[in-house]
Amino acid sequence: MSKWRCNVCGYVYEGEKPPAECPICGVGPEEFSSVGETTVATARPIPAKRWKCTVCDYVHVGETPPDVCPLCGAGSDAFVLLSDDAQSLTAEAIAAAGLGTARSALNKVSYGLYIITSVNAGQLNGQCCNTAFQLTDQPTRLAVCLNKENLTHEYIMASAVFAISMLSTNQLDMVRHFGYQSGRNVNKFKDIEYIAGKNGCPILKNGVAYVEGTILPEKSVDVGTHTLFIGDVTAGRMIVDEDPLTYHLYRENRAK
Ligand SMILES: Cc1cc2nc3c(=O)[nH]c(=O)nc-3n(C[C@H](O)[C@H](O)[C@H](O)COP(=O)(O)O)c2cc1C
Repeated sequence: MSKWRCNVCGYVYEGEKPPAECPICGVGPEEFSSVGETTVATARPIPAKRWKCTVCDYVHVGETPPDVCPLCGAGSDAFVLLSDDAQSLTAEAIAAAGLGTARSALNKVSYGLYIITSVNAGQLNGQCCNTAFQLTDQPTRLAVCLNKENLTHEYIMASAVFAISMLSTNQLDMVRHFGYQSGRNVNKFKDIEYIAGKNGCPILKNGVAYVEGTILPEKSVDVGTHTLFIGDVTAGRMIVDEDPLTYHLYRENRAK
């Protein structure tokens, strides 16, 4: 059996001829060079179990399902085990598991990580989100994309006000608290230290900064499962001049 190495990403394939497409980086057979007959690992040693998110079909490879689906935010209980038989995956299985696809590439998009909160008829709620970003400076306008199933979405639709707390790097517990459970099942603010913003939305006391805002319903967009809310900032300040938590940092440390 011959061995072929991808000139672009280094992936090694075993077969009589190079594969039609590199399962890691997608280049064609012309980018593969023969590396002889010696024994070379044909696939990176990756865990064998594959877990499928029943909400969005994302496939995670690992010994256990992820704490949260990186695509749709569903919890680990939304994952079902697809297979547990292989010790190391073939090129075809790697491609099937999504490692060589656009979905895995999207894991490399950088995001911040925030707690967005709202208030509705005196009730407080909030959720974790990575999809908040500034749109314009004048006016100070931003966007955030929220799942329509979320209680926070319901509150923001009803009251059109929100606050966004930027987390500090030691607040992974807040990600779990606000991101892994719904306010439909638990009062998330019961034991949380917060202050009320000018618009009534709760702001985390130990974050690094916050903004408050008002939604512009006519500019917000229905994007299917989610609403892309557009809002103008009405207040805000830096609480402490420290680095904020990022989505990347969370992914690196979430198991700890
Ligand atoms: C790291 C992380 C990022 C998340 N980002 C988003 C997001 O941008 N939009 C969204 O709708 N849900 C996101 N979620 C999922 C929600 O935080 C989660 O579904 C939450 O339980 C909803 O709470 P609620 O029903 O009380 O509003 C994220 C979760 C985590 C852990």
